[in-house]
Amino acid sequence: MSKLKQKLAEKIPSYRERVTKLMKEYGDVVVDQVHIRQFYGGMRGLKCLTTDISYLDPNEGIRFRGYTIPEVLEKLPKPKGAEMPYVEGHFFLLLTGEIPTQEDIQDVVDEFKARNRVPHYVYDLLREMPRDTHPMTMFSAAILAMQRESVFVKRYNEGLSKMDYWDPYYEDALNLLAKLPEIAAYIYRMKYKADTPIASNPELDFGANFAHMMGIDHPYDEVARLYFILHSDHESGNVSAHTTHLVASALSDPYYALSAGMNGLAGPLHGLANQEVLRWIQHVMDKMGGKLPSKEELKKFVWDTLNSGQVIPGYGHAVLRKTDPRYTAQREFALKHLPDDEIFQLVSMLYEVVPPILMEHGKAKNPWPNVDAHSGVIQWHYGVREYDFYTVMFGVGRAIGVLSNIVWDRAVGQAIERPKSLTTDMLEKVAGIKK
Ligand SMILES: CC(C)(COP(=O)(O)OP(=O)(O)OC[C@H]1O[C@@H](n2cnc3c(N)ncnc32)[C@H](O)[C@@H]1OP(=O)(O)O)[C@@H](O)C(=O)NCCC(=O)NCCS
Repeated sequence: MSKLKQKLAEKIPSYRERVTKLMKEYGDVVVDQVHIRQFYGGMRGLKCLTTDISYLDPNEGIRFRGYTIPEVLEKLPKPKGAEMPYVEGHFFLLLTGEIPTQEDIQDVVDEFKARNRVPHYVYDLLREMPRDTHPMTMFSAAILAMQRESVFVKRYNEGLSKMDYWDPYYEDALNLLAKLPEIAAYIYRMKYKADTPIASNPELDFGANFAHMMGIDHPYDEVARLYFILHSDHESGNVSAHTTHLVASALSDPYYALSAGMNGLAGPLHGLANQEVLRWIQHVMDKMGGKLPSKEELKKFVWDTLNSGQVIPGYGHAVLRKTDPRYTAQREFALKHLPDDEIFQLVSMLYEVVPPILMEHGKAKNPWPNVDAHSGVIQWHYGVREYDFYTVMFGVGRAIGVLSNIVWDRAVGQAIERPKSLTTDMLEKVAGIKK
């Protein structure tokens, strides 16, 4: 058994005890109340989910297993001479709650290497799809196509105790994760680089191998590690995490669940926002004849977008009420590696211009930038200019978090999700409206 799985097996029993105690002895304790606005307002703010893998504080931003982003970037071990930590180490942290040693990481690196061969039919499927298919559709289809490999389905059909569900879920999660960088890079090279895929290099770690298969030199390996870590998890109520959790709650296997989660990530209000940011910036640059706008000109573009009833992509958040620390981490990287990049300068100018305008506009509860306001510019700088592809990279990162979550869902015996709905008539009655 791998050290990672061993560690999980050791941790699960005490977690189960805690959850059983909460459920049995405190099951009736009231945590939150539901308001009518939440029935139509996307359940915003309703406290009814649980995860120990990450927690999003509205003012502080995300903590992964209790660690802030700067702490994660500082504490996780790094490949020799690298600036950014191993993605494999981050996965270990999310799954176990512990900062791994180099030896722990090597164990995960070896696990991924042993599982990274992508079945040939996945390439066949991708090649059969029209080349103008959105890369997120290709990515999700590739994940779904591999469902026949599910260890969970096989063991479930053989007769599996509920106590052991987490084990084949773990196997599926690792088998899936190990293949995602290659699938993503394959889609990129097939679709945008004249169908010239680059074979994986077994000597490289998760992030560096992705950079290698994308065909982009150092420091893009650092970008890949940073990007996958930052996008991994954002507690469990966001669309991709919640969808993955919901579908898995029906005991659909991790392939079905992750593919569904990726379909949610593909929405413009969620993961697709990073491509929308670049599209918006390009539109500004085009209108300016390719040169940077002045601050006054930029203010006008922002107001024009708002006045035409559209959102400013990359700004606002359902939970956060400050600048997203994932934005800040990418900004620090850009200040160090690409300070003179024109698009970065425009992104920086937007950081000054947009928040006061959104405050004056008076609608968005959070006028500050989120992760998507910055992801695209770094990719653009290193030559990934096909912004349709950005959400696929977000998806590779997000898979690390959502798959960790569903392994734990099975470990603690999360039930099939089934909230209750009411009719509008019923809500009007509750509200005391007489008709
Ligand atoms: C992220 C987002 C979907 C959160 O939605 P939310 O929780 O409903 O946000 P709020 O409660 O602040 O929304 C209140 C109002 O402000 C508007 N608003 C929020 N962010 C806005 C933005 N960036 N630009 C313009 N208007 C915005 C909303 O559309 C909403 O308007 P409405 O009352 O006419 O429906 C929203 O901020 C948004 O659309 N941002 C742009 C897309 C984006 O960056 N997505 C990536 C998220 S990580």
